[in-house]
Amino acid sequence: KEIVVSGIRSTGNLHLGNYFGALRNYVRMQEEFNCYFFVADWHALTTHPDTKELRNSVLNVVAENMAAGLDTEKVCLYLQSAVPEIAELYLYLNMMAYKGELEKTPTFKDKVRQQPDNVNAGLLTYPVLMTADIIIHRAKYVPVGKDQEQHLEIARNFAQRFNHRYGELFPEPVAFNYGEQLVKIPSLDGGGKMSKSENQFATLYLADEDDLIRKKVMKAKTDSGPTEPNSQMPDYIQNIFGLMRLVSEESTVQKFSEDFNSASIRYGDMKKQLAEDMVKFIAPIREKAKEIRSDEGRLKKVLQRGAERARESAAQTLQQTRELIGLNYF
Ligand code: TYM
Repeated sequence: KEIVVSGIRSTGNLHLGNYFGALRNYVRMQEEFNCYFFVADWHALTTHPDTKELRNSVLNVVAENMAAGLDTEKVCLYLQSAVPEIAELYLYLNMMAYKGELEKTPTFKDKVRQQPDNVNAGLLTYPVLMTADIIIHRAKYVPVGKDQEQHLEIARNFAQRFNHRYGELFPEPVAFNYGEQLVKIPSLDGGGKMSKSENQFATLYLADEDDLIRKKVMKAKTDSGPTEPNSQMPDYIQNIFGLMRLVSEESTVQKFSEDFNSASIRYGDMKKQLAEDMVKFIAPIREKAKEIRSDEGRLKKVLQRGAERARESAAQTLQQTRELIGLNYF
């Protein structure tokens, strides 16, 4: 079976972007690939040095991964910090990663703007650690959302660079989605992508209670509607249709798109429908996650077993890495 790796940072509860960009694919991929999924708690430290909430975030993310349908008998689910082999591989990769190229990374530039008082070296080398995460298991496919595309390109460069310098060891990993394109879930306010740091009302979390989901959906940006048939659809309305396609019946989407084309659409009704379908989608995941989260004994066992399996695979790669570099002196 081909190898798959992906991770999610532990910086709070998961949202719809994480679900449709990543988790949904994890659940399908577990049936046909050898999957390693982890919580990127080291990466979280690059932006969240205050660790009061870390433990809670980590356990929430694990519970939400499982609630979304990950079967820990089929996949290896672990914490990044439980696999020190990743840190050693990161160290070797750092010797082949150049300051100039890292500084050019768009996500690094964004972070410099977002946290000018904490431009730490971990932020700069974020894609190096991410490469180590992936190639430590010699993964071929990496299910991620569109926002990670550039990081995957960098990972391919580093894998290739290692192979050229020391000998063939790592496949060049590619971003994966079951659709033809990587997913980008927009935020509800018509702005950029849905994210943990955006305006909280513009992000739907898997932990949101029903009324909060309704409230957020009803606040989503619309306007007074088209005045002529077959008008051009504004981005923020396309976004609402996009969300509807993910959680509503096809006939529902069809109906509202006909209403749009005949300029008779009522966005209030559309959002009410979307809100109810969203509640139906999120509520079972939320309740399942609560149940799983409440059993810390079970979570601990899952993570211990995950760490053992992940370390076994990682240790093999690291052994070969050391040999190829020439660190096996005797
Ligand atoms: P993170 O924690 O920001 O997000 C986790 C996953 O959710 C996807 N995602 C989205 N997809 C579509 N639309 C959105 N609005 C949206 N928001 C988030 C992300 O693309 C990601 O797949 N650097 C990674 C974590 C990471 C990693 C790795 C991933 C560390 N090491 C190795 C893969 C392989 C990140 O910050 O994801």
